[in-house]
Amino acid sequence: MTTIFEKITDINEPKAKLAIKKAADIIKNGGLAVFPTETVYGLGGNALDGDAARKIYAAKGRPSDNPLIIHISLPEEAEAYCHTNEYFYRLASAFMPGPLTVILPKKDIIPLSVTGGLDTVAVRCPSHPVARALIEAAGLPIAAPSANLSGKPSPTCAAYVAEDMNGRVDMIIDGGDCEIGLESTIISLDGGVATLLRPGAITSDALECVCESVKIAPAVLELLGENERPLSPGMKYRHYAPTAPFVLLDGDSEAQLEFLKSAVKNENCAILCYDEELPELEGDKLIAIGSRKDLSRQAKTLFTALRDADKLGADKIYGHLPPKEGLGLALYNRMIRAAAHTILKV
Ligand code: TXA
Ligand code: MG
Repeated sequence: MTTIFEKITDINEPKAKLAIKKAADIIKNGGLAVFPTETVYGLGGNALDGDAARKIYAAKGRPSDNPLIIHISLPEEAEAYCHTNEYFYRLASAFMPGPLTVILPKKDIIPLSVTGGLDTVAVRCPSHPVARALIEAAGLPIAAPSANLSGKPSPTCAAYVAEDMNGRVDMIIDGGDCEIGLESTIISLDGGVATLLRPGAITSDALECVCESVKIAPAVLELLGENERPLSPGMKYRHYAPTAPFVLLDGDSEAQLEFLKSAVKNENCAILCYDEELPELEGDKLIAIGSRKDLSRQAKTLFTALRDADKLGADKIYGHLPPKEGLGLALYNRMIRAAAHTILKV
């Protein structure tokens, strides 16, 4: 398959409108188009078409029991696809459009192939102008997982989308770097209980302001054992993993820096370090992910850094275990998966 590439820098330009119409037509006709969102790039197809969902799973190499998120342009549209409740509208008025996905009991119009056979569906109303314009132009809900090959870090720039998806999808829209860089927060409201399934830029504290109490699913903080069944099927798969072993350092910051200083001298390692550490380390495989205190910057750079680190030919990659508070929880959740829970106490 030949993939069409279009770049959008200004949504108001006539050529941007043409590109969005082209992508919308592809999706209406059962094809696949990759588009930017504020979190990560999405691999979009018609969420009402079971065949489009099967094409998405094939393009990603994703197990078909791992359900897709459907993207809508206004929260009210959710009524047509799932059974909403009061908490949905409270969350919608606080956080939509934005990086939040809500899980609710599905209506029959959503094919089971989209939800991996589950009787619930994940809905999200993205804020990125290109994503919103595309959903409106298609006049359909768009099913879209992250636009990476299964197991790889989600792409936050078009170059990494192309690396995974060139030749596997009909079209890729390059909308520049994604602002947040980690996938949306997922909260389940199924059964009337609010449960955080995947942490993201909307933090659990922010959700608690709206939902009173929010349970944190065990899979958020741990990797589950072989036979355990997570609430979110995606949590059982190894994710975001670089090819070289990835080791997370835990301990006070001085001790971590001392460890890294000696590792760069003695091992062929790449390091995902803080900006402040760069002048102290002398290796040629250093990737600064942001200032120690700037979790937003770290979120934005993490997935690209993991992919970049893999290209350096290192035998091992070191990083720092993030704090579990605020946006740190989202970083923590992604990094323990990328590291398959290899944590070294120094
Ligand atoms: O930011 C995002 O959410 C991005 C952009 C493109 O919108 N999308 C994304 O989709 O991250 P994906 O497919 O890579 O991750 C969706 C996660 C999976 O772990 C899946 O298991 C879970 O959501 N999920 C989807 N529907 C679910 C459901 N009905 N019940 C439980 N988990 C569900
Ligand atoms: Mg994904």
